[in-house]
Formats: sequence, structure tokens, C-alpha cells
Amino acid sequence: MTDSKKPQAQYLKDYKAPNFLIDHTDLTFDLQPTNTTVTSVLTLTRVGDNQSPLILDGINLRLTSLSIDAIEITDYSVVDEQLIINNLPERCKLRIVTEISPETNTSLEGLYLSGGAYCTQCEAQGFRKITYYMDRPDVLSTFDVTIIADSRYTHLLSNGNQIDKGETPDGRHFSKWQDPFKKPSYLFALVAGDFDVLNDTYTAKSGRKIDLALFVDKGNLPKTPHAMQSLKKSMQWDEERFNLEYDLDIYMIVAVDFFNMGAMENKGLNIFNSKCVLANQETATDKDYHTIESIVGHEYFHNWTGNRVTCRDWFQLSLKEGLTVFRDQEFSSDLGSRALNRIDAVKVMRTHQFSEDAGPMAHPIRPEKVIEMNNFYTVTVYDKGAEVIRMMHTLLGEVNFQKGMALYFKRHDGQAVTCDDFVSAMSDASGVNLEQFKRWYSQAGTPRLNAVEHYDSASNTYTLTIEQYAPINQPDNKPLHIPFAIELLDESGSSIELQYKGLKVSNVLDVTDKKQSYTFENVTCKPVAVLLEDFSAPCILTQQTTELELLHIMRFARSDFSRWDAQQQLFIKAVKAAVNSDTQFQLSDEIIEALRVLIVSKQGDLALIAELLKLPSFDTLAAEFEIIPVDEIIRVVAQFEIQIATSLNDELIACFGSLHDDGSINAEAVAVRALQQICLHYLAKMPSTQTDKFIKLAASSSNMTNVLGALSAVVKASHPLCDDLLSHFDSQWRHDVLVMDKWFALQAMQTGEDAIINIKSLYEHPSFDFSNPNRVRALVGSFSYFNTQQFHRADGQGYELLGDLLVNLNAINPQNASRMLTPFMSWKRYDKTRSALMKTQLERLSNLDGLSDDLFEKVEKALN
Ligand code: TRP
Ligand code: ZN
Repeated sequence: MTDSKKPQAQYLKDYKAPNFLIDHTDLTFDLQPTNTTVTSVLTLTRVGDNQSPLILDGINLRLTSLSIDAIEITDYSVVDEQLIINNLPERCKLRIVTEISPETNTSLEGLYLSGGAYCTQCEAQGFRKITYYMDRPDVLSTFDVTIIADSRYTHLLSNGNQIDKGETPDGRHFSKWQDPFKKPSYLFALVAGDFDVLNDTYTAKSGRKIDLALFVDKGNLPKTPHAMQSLKKSMQWDEERFNLEYDLDIYMIVAVDFFNMGAMENKGLNIFNSKCVLANQETATDKDYHTIESIVGHEYFHNWTGNRVTCRDWFQLSLKEGLTVFRDQEFSSDLGSRALNRIDAVKVMRTHQFSEDAGPMAHPIRPEKVIEMNNFYTVTVYDKGAEVIRMMHTLLGEVNFQKGMALYFKRHDGQAVTCDDFVSAMSDASGVNLEQFKRWYSQAGTPRLNAVEHYDSASNTYTLTIEQYAPINQPDNKPLHIPFAIELLDESGSSIELQYKGLKVSNVLDVTDKKQSYTFENVTCKPVAVLLEDFSAPCILTQQTTELELLHIMRFARSDFSRWDAQQQLFIKAVKAAVNSDTQFQLSDEIIEALRVLIVSKQGDLALIAELLKLPSFDTLAAEFEIIPVDEIIRVVAQFEIQIATSLNDELIACFGSLHDDGSINAEAVAVRALQQICLHYLAKMPSTQTDKFIKLAASSSNMTNVLGALSAVVKASHPLCDDLLSHFDSQWRHDVLVMDKWFALQAMQTGEDAIINIKSLYEHPSFDFSNPNRVRALVGSFSYFNTQQFHRADGQGYELLGDLLVNLNAINPQNASRMLTPFMSWKRYDKTRSALMKTQLERLSNLDGLSDDLFEKVEKALN
């Protein structure tokens, strides 16, 4: 790659306000598969000095006309991906006509065809693939949109309210939309297709009636009620918890099959990946139901946190994403189990986010340097961003946090702002000083904490000393402001009141120094401390805890999350000990006993028990090692699972048999199925006529959660029933691509020696399609993320499979290719043989002709 062709980075420090405003945008689309005409009339006002040209972004556009008041402009140039126009008057209406080709657009960015329907994806910088524009989030404009199409596209949709529709003289039809709210280009949307529609209404707190419409491919109506219910619940929850009401008269959701991400919050017209909308009991698992509810919520909540108040520039992405993830997590927690939602969120942090933050793509939640913005829709910006908001919530408390939100909207409604503006609103409204806390926005890496306890029985005092260390990859980081929540348990498992100088004190310690001590009085026996309760900060904590103390926490902590966390620590300690020992190593009798009590007594939330019975994932365990001992972790986990399956065989059988699944989707039934699934997971390791019966029963259920539970159990256990059940599933579900994705994922999990050959042959399966991100992720994503054994084959064939795919996807869909590359990013953490083989694949990409910016940025970082 020559230097001039090398992708250029953008820096946060170089931000400049725009030199023109776009007061209004009028768009007309004449839709044709390979030559759609886009006519754009921009009402412009100059705000910068009168020498500076207007610079518009545009990619893959054919410019056919450029004029002001019907007079063609000649003083312009097109350089790379910019249209530069000189000597514009202070105010004018600029008319731009361009042509684009939706049919050949496989990037799924801009305007493209998805299964016969036209749709758009503009975040982050896709609008520039539609027309020349100031494609940046701080340029806010009202939009009028006219769509003209053949009449077989029965629904012509865009943002806001429909203000006109009719026939055209040539027998086609049109529809005109007006969005009264100013918005940046990334929130623009257009859809044209032939859909089935589920209509409903929601009456807002104020009494306003809002029309709701869900558009899906013909025949999919039976799969829409859950998403619609989720939308109504979201609207009600945002009114109750955040005092926020919807602002337009109509809210539309369209489900499409070809989509790079989960969903997109376009103003008044959300576009969703169909897998994040469609569900019924036969085809979707309980987990799918939960995901749909949370994503429908997430996009809805963006209407205020993202759309009404948006980002000044893309470095501020976490302003909307971190906050909106926090809001959707709270939504799920208020409606369902807070503990289970917290467990899920922390799993994501400890596996994907911690590893991203320790690797070559490490970046602060507000990045400072970006080549391809699509590469920064990361677990760091989203999930660590949400943890940062959660910490502010912990420091301020709910009441002050809500005051901060109210002030944020009062100050910034209709504006494009920064993360600093958000923190200022929080701090001004609450009086809490957040100056040091702001470092969370600019420092990458996971902070490490070490806790040392000292109990003094003579004075009945307990002292906790906490020291914070900069992450190894970010040695210059300064100490952070960390809310450190604790609970002290006595021998009987009761919570000890925290006292200092005779007064009750908060259980959230404000850790701000490099090293700090906290003393508590009237502690009459040596306590067992629950530290970083509920994962109150996204840190790695080390402490010296014995197995007995962890078992005590697992039984008695008031936080169910912390009980689970202690259980995970027990398993992790055991795995580490076993990996480091040459002799056969077993889980202790105490751990097995504790598991037995859980299964036999079945007390409390059964879904939590199911979680407590699970060994940590490979990624969770891998995070504990500097160089990941792949074969040893796989061997030890397999051995422990067999030990559990053998020692608790009778109890697992009894437990499975005693559970009755009534087939409903309420929390109790979901919990029953979750516990049955984990029982089957272990039982499949010990084939017997009894367990085979259970497996066949579950596999023939009309509930997809049960079916998938059985299939995943047999796949992971390489059970004799595996082949039969998989081929039966294929013939049963070939007509439903979303269900086939589950089948592809199961296929990808098979650990036999022929795994690679099997995947290659599935590329030819009639349901497979390289241009569909869902298919690719189901098959190859599942393989490279979860089939550790085969992906990390010591002969490198797993890496080669992924390398081949990336070469192929680079040309089709760079955004998806770049996401699929992630497993290679941590190549340095594997043994010499494996890291060399992974590096070979990265170098192969680095030398590829036509390497996309998306892949270039990550490959270059990985190799340097
Ligand atoms: N803003 C979307 C969300 O968080 C994310 C998104 C959807 C996206 N599609 C995208 C981001 C395409 C980049 C590219 O819900
Ligand atoms: Zn979002």
C-alpha cells in the first residue's frame, strides 16, 4: 500500500465546528435496483468565514447535476470522497442529483436491497453512500422525504409523519414524509417493500395516542406479538423510571434479513435485524425472547438518549451508547431478574471487554484516534461505557441520577453534545464532584485492585486496604475514582452493619487514591468480606480468599450476583490449580457437596441455581492466564464436568424428572427450562437409557428452548444421538432461515476431527449465504468464538478457515469481516505454535490487495 493510499486516521483533538448549517434537507428518491436517482435540496447557511468552501462527503455516487436556483454550478471539484464547492453565497438552496445502485451494494451500508426490500443503514457514515452531505452528527436538519417506486413496493416509509401519497403519471406510486425534529444524517431511514404489518396503539402518560406499526416479511405475522409487547413495555417503563415520553405520533419498526448489527434507532423508523424481532415458542428460545425485549427497549430508549440529544462527533459515541445500554439493562432488571441480568452483563465485561481492553484494540470509552468508525462499535464503548454510567448512578444514587438526567435534557435537548456535557449535568444536579471520575472516559485498560484485610480482635476493628494499579498495557494511567461496594458477613451469614466513629456508614467506599485504608468498628468476630459487591466497578480484583470463605459467600451474600461470583471463583481456583498440576486433580468434596445441595433443595430462583451449576466459559478461564493454556483448560473443564456428572448423576436425574415445564414464557417457566437444560448438559456426558429418554423428550418438544437444550447437550458431549438429531432438525426447519442459524451454530460446535471439512461442506448448504451476516456469524462466528478445540487446532486449519473467510468477506462486507476478525486480535496470548499460525493469517490479510479500511485498522494494530 503506497502512503497516499493508506487510510487516514481522525483525531478527537482536531474537532472543528461545521462552517455551514443545513437548515433543511429535501430528498426525493426514485427507486430502481441499479440506478436509483437521489435529488437533494439543501437549505444552507454559512456560519464559518466566507472564504471556506462547502465540503460534502460522498462515496460511490454518480453526480449528474449540481445547481443553485436552476443555475448549474461549475466551481467545484470532486476529490477522493469529498465534493468541494467554492464561493457559495451566505444562504442558498443547493440542489444535488446523484445516482446509486442499491442492488450491487453488499456492504449493507447506505441504501441497499435486503430480500427484495429497499432499506438503509446510515450510522455511522453510511449516509454519504446515498448522497453528498455533511455526514457528521453535529449537523442537525429537518428532513422532507419523497419516495417514488413501483407499486409492488406497497409500503414506502421514512422518518416522521406521512404527509402525502399518491400515484405517479407513469403508473408508479409515491409517498411523502416529514420529520419535524432536527436530526443528523445518521438517523435518516428509508424502507420500501411489501410487508405484513402488525398495528397497535399506545396511550402515553399525557393521554396522547401513538400509532405503533411493525413491518415484517409476508407470512411472519405470527412471530410479531412479542416484539410489539416489548415496545409497549419500553414506552411505559421510560415514562415511569425516567419520566420520558415518546414525541412523534407514530413509531415504526421494520424487520430485515440482511443487517450488520442488531438494530438501528432511526428517528420514528427503527430498522431491525429480523433475528432481533421475530419470535414464537416453536422457533425462538427463552434467551431470544429476552434479547428481543432488551434490543427493542434499547432502540426505543435511544429516542431520548441519542436522538433528541445526540453526539457532537463520533468519538463521543459512548454518550449515547453507554447511557442507552445502561438504560436497557435497567429496563431488563426492573422487568425481570436483576441478579441474572447483572450476571449476564458482567460475563460480557470479564470475557470480551477485558480481553479487548488488554489487546491491540484497547481504547478508552471515548476513543481519541479512529480510522474506520465502524470498528468502534465495541464492547468497550457500549458495555464498559454502561458500567461507567452505572458507577455514576452508584455514586449519586437514583434520585440524584434522575435529577442529572433531567438537567441534561433541559440543557441539551435538540443539541449535539459531548461526554463532558453529560458528566457536568450529573455533577451540577447532584453536587457530587466528578472531576477525577472523568478519567474513566480517557483511560483505556482494566484497572487492577488488590485488597488486603486485617481483623483486630482486641479492638473489634476490621481494616480493608485497597490498592489500585494501572493496567499492564497502560502504565501511565492515573488513579481512578472507584465506587467499591462491600458487605461483611458474620459466621452465621448475617450482614454486619458498617460503623465508623460510632456512626453507620455507606457500604460504597469512595476509592480515589493509589492506596487507601478503611476501618470499621464494632466488628465482633472475624468477618467474611464480599468485595466489589455487584461488580460495582469494572476492575480486576485480587484478594486472598479461602475456599471456605468463598463457600460462605456463595451461601449467604445478600447479593445473588455476589453469590454467583463466589461460585465462579471457586471453579476458577480449581481450574487453575488443576492446570498447574501434573497429577489428576478433582473438584473438592466441599464444592461437589455445595452443588448437590443446590440441586436437591432447589431453593430460591431456579434460573440462578442453573447459573450456579455452570462452569466458567473458556474465555472466562482464559482471562486468568497470561499465555492461554488451550489444551489444559479444555482437558480440565472436560474432566470437571465428568466429575460433576458422575458424582451427581442420581440427583441430576431426579432434578430433571421433578421439574415440570408448562410451556409458558413467564419467569418461572423460563427458570424451569434453564435448570432442566443444565441437568441435560451434564447428563448427556453419561449416556444411559434414562438420560437418552430425557434427551429425546426434550428434542421432540414443541418449545425451541428445550429442543436446543437437548441438541446442544448432545453436540457438546459428542453423544451417539447427535447425528440423528441434527439431521432431523435440518429437515424439519429448512424453511426457516433464522432457525437454521441455530442449526449452523450447532454444526460449528462439533469437536470431531472432521469439523473443518464439515464447515466447508456447509458453505454449500442451500440455506447458507456469505452475503448474509447472520448466516456467516452463525456458522463461522460460532466456530471461531466457541469451538475452542477445533478453532485452535495446533495444525492451524481452524485459523486458515477463518483467514479464507475474511479474504472473501473483505470484498463483500468489510464491516462484518472486521467483526469476524476479532479472535485473531489476541494472537499474542497463545503458545508459540498457535500465535505464529495466527500471525500468518494476519500477515496474509495485511498483504491483501484492496484491503478495506475496516480490516486494515485492526490488522495493523494487531501486528504492531
Ligand atoms: N446505533 C445502533 C445501536 O446501538 C448500532 C448500529 C446499528 C450500528 N447498525 C449499525 C452501528 C451499523 C454501526 C453500523 O442500536
Ligand atoms: Zn445503541
